[in-house]
Amino acid sequence: MEPELKRAAELAAEYLAGLDSGRIGDEATPESLRERLGRPLTEHGVPGTQVVEELAEDVREGLLNTASGRFFGWVIGGGLPAAVAADWLTSVWDQNAAGFACSPAASVVEEIVGTWVKELLGLPAEASFALVTGCQMAHVTALAAARHRLLSDRGIDVERDGLFGAPPIRVLAGEHHETLLRALRLIGIGTGAVVKVAQEDGGPIDLEALEALLEKDAQVPTVVALAAGDLNRGAYDRLGEACDIAHRHGAWVHVDGAFGLWAAASPRFRHLVNGVERADSWATDAHKWLNVPYDSGLAFVRDREAHRAAMSISAAYKVEVPTGRDPFDWGPEWSRRARGFALYAALRTMGRHGVAGVVERCCDLTEKLVDGLRALPGVEVLAPPIINQALVRFRAGDGDHDARTDEVIQRLNAGGVAWFGPTTWGGVRVMRISVSNFRTTTEDIDRVLRAFAEILDE
Ligand SMILES: Cc1ncc(COP(=O)(O)O)c(C=O)c1O
Repeated sequence: MEPELKRAAELAAEYLAGLDSGRIGDEATPESLRERLGRPLTEHGVPGTQVVEELAEDVREGLLNTASGRFFGWVIGGGLPAAVAADWLTSVWDQNAAGFACSPAASVVEEIVGTWVKELLGLPAEASFALVTGCQMAHVTALAAARHRLLSDRGIDVERDGLFGAPPIRVLAGEHHETLLRALRLIGIGTGAVVKVAQEDGGPIDLEALEALLEKDAQVPTVVALAAGDLNRGAYDRLGEACDIAHRHGAWVHVDGAFGLWAAASPRFRHLVNGVERADSWATDAHKWLNVPYDSGLAFVRDREAHRAAMSISAAYKVEVPTGRDPFDWGPEWSRRARGFALYAALRTMGRHGVAGVVERCCDLTEKLVDGLRALPGVEVLAPPIINQALVRFRAGDGDHDARTDEVIQRLNAGGVAWFGPTTWGGVRVMRISVSNFRTTTEDIDRVLRAFAEILDE
């Protein structure tokens, strides 16, 4: 074996072995990292093993250890060993998953993964799909298909003519992630197209308000964007009912289920996505709750024709293989990583029960963490878990709760036992909790609760 690869495998094993005992966050600054890593570029290079060793050493203090079971910031999953191993092989094989002819195996693995995920998530078997970098590009892919359908039904060839002369498309949405807005910017619909639908108690969209908006401008081409697990609370729109209303008015329904769609894999949580299969497109991630290494997202589209029309590409040098699937006809990239292998490995190693198990365990551990926090002095739970997300804040008696919340988070993170992120929600500072890693255990939660208790008892 080439010594660089052997050494990298050893360093990876050492890193993983140290995850449990090590700090989750370190105190690297941009300056300290630039100083360490900013070596002069040499004229004649450095031996590969030395490069690998020094790289591992130099980045160490700048790695936020999101692979650990005690990382609860944002929504970041870990890397299942089989998926990481398949990812290593993907690099070694160095396949270009552009077309079938470039990598027959990558193309067929993607077909299989697409089928498996549709089965797991209860999406229509006939839906087309694309493996993309993440939910951001899944939105771009799915909304480009929506744009095609809504405009071609009105006699406009948007792929040829762009949006010149096209009627404006509107997007009705309640809770939505910023990446939905960027997708709208990228495909020329623009963020000004978003019309906010009233929400019930800041949660699911109000279905009567949705219907009223659809009736009001009935001739306007419309996308209804629904949330299957919003970023902060993991709250769900009433998906099936919203789809029925939208379809009565000729709208396209797009679902953002970056992590929340995976609730469909669990018999205990499936009810949250009731009727999701009646939507027109879905965007999700494998690098969050499925614990596949970055970057791995999926777009699904019911209307295959619209999806293909929006994305397909041709070139004189394309090698046609009649029964093969060319990934570049379904996603926004040409040359790209064969990201299906890691996803395939994750799904094979877990099976249906394994995926449901990760989802359920994360939800149970979120509940345990929030219950434990609630019992501590000054903790207020603002959003109890629906799935694996929750929001809490730390009260300061008659003082400044926002400042106290930021201070507690900062102290907890500085202690190195775990890592949480702050945000502003409903006008107040809160701590976000996300339990998305297959490695998190009951012991991890106990340890984190002890660390909070020490800070809050002082
Ligand atoms: C609900 C939701 N949608 C979309 C995204 C964007 O996903 P990605 O970062 O994989 O593009 C996120 C990321 O946290 C999310 O929580």
